[in-house]
Amino acid sequence: MMDTRPPLAAARDAISAARRIVIFTGAGMSAESGVPTFRDALTGLWARFSAEALATPEAFARDPELVWGWYEWRRARVRAAQPNAGHRAIAEFAARRAAEGSGGVTVVTQNVDDLHERAGGPAAVHLHGSLFAPRCGACGAPGAFATVEPVEPEGGRRLAPPRCEQCGGALRPGVVWFGEGLPEAAWSAASQAMDSCDLVLCVGTSALVYPAAALPEQALRAGAMLLQVNPGHTAFDALARFNLKGSAATVLPALLCGNH
Ligand code: OAD
Repeated sequence: MMDTRPPLAAARDAISAARRIVIFTGAGMSAESGVPTFRDALTGLWARFSAEALATPEAFARDPELVWGWYEWRRARVRAAQPNAGHRAIAEFAARRAAEGSGGVTVVTQNVDDLHERAGGPAAVHLHGSLFAPRCGACGAPGAFATVEPVEPEGGRRLAPPRCEQCGGALRPGVVWFGEGLPEAAWSAASQAMDSCDLVLCVGTSALVYPAAALPEQALRAGAMLLQVNPGHTAFDALARFNLKGSAATVLPALLCGNH
């Protein structure tokens, strides 16, 4: 029989019926907090800056000051940003499900910000690392930031990376760069969550970057239903049972918390 419910209502029913849920987020999740995405025309970071010059191991080897300064600019922007209504809806939803015992919620994010955590949600699985966890580029030891934070101009300015306290090597941002593997623990936690969930909610990702984008596909193959929240078209459009066309901060409170 044809489903005549509006997509939001049908998606809400699917969520209520699901036992284990994974929420898979990308840069669009934080866009309304003022953190730029990567591929949106004009405003996306990769429309304004060169990924080759800033986000590869070769770039850091060639010009560590350029790369460190750019990531310090991004870290400063995130520190100045606040979680939006979408982050808060996810946090509230996860807490409610935990209190009711109605099923687990795992947040798997490609984002390197800390806005899920600052919204009070469950610690997210960070597939692409974190802006807040630098490590030594030589020995891998965890590092710390300089105590005084510079005020950054747009795009940052050249800044020498702090030195490692263990070996004196240059610290590098704790994010995954093009050409690098994903952190093993995060990958295996995400992969397990995908294999054992019955619903994946994808929010604000273009689903173009692999291997992360393969995870919701893995869940689909294991029998999960895919829902999507995104104002634009993505690689997941054809795979999602429901495509809710709108922004994270407007759709998620209605979808997860019934706030209209
Ligand atoms: P993209 O910039 O590729 O995609 C952002 C998506 O968010 C697009 O599909 C937009 O339509 C959508 N979007 C924009 N505003 C939104 C809003 N307010 N609410 C909901 N959705 C919105 O970002 P990602 O898919 O996250 O990798 O990119 C994946 C990876 O590519 C990133 O993790 C990063 C980048 O290179 C690394 O840093 C390793």
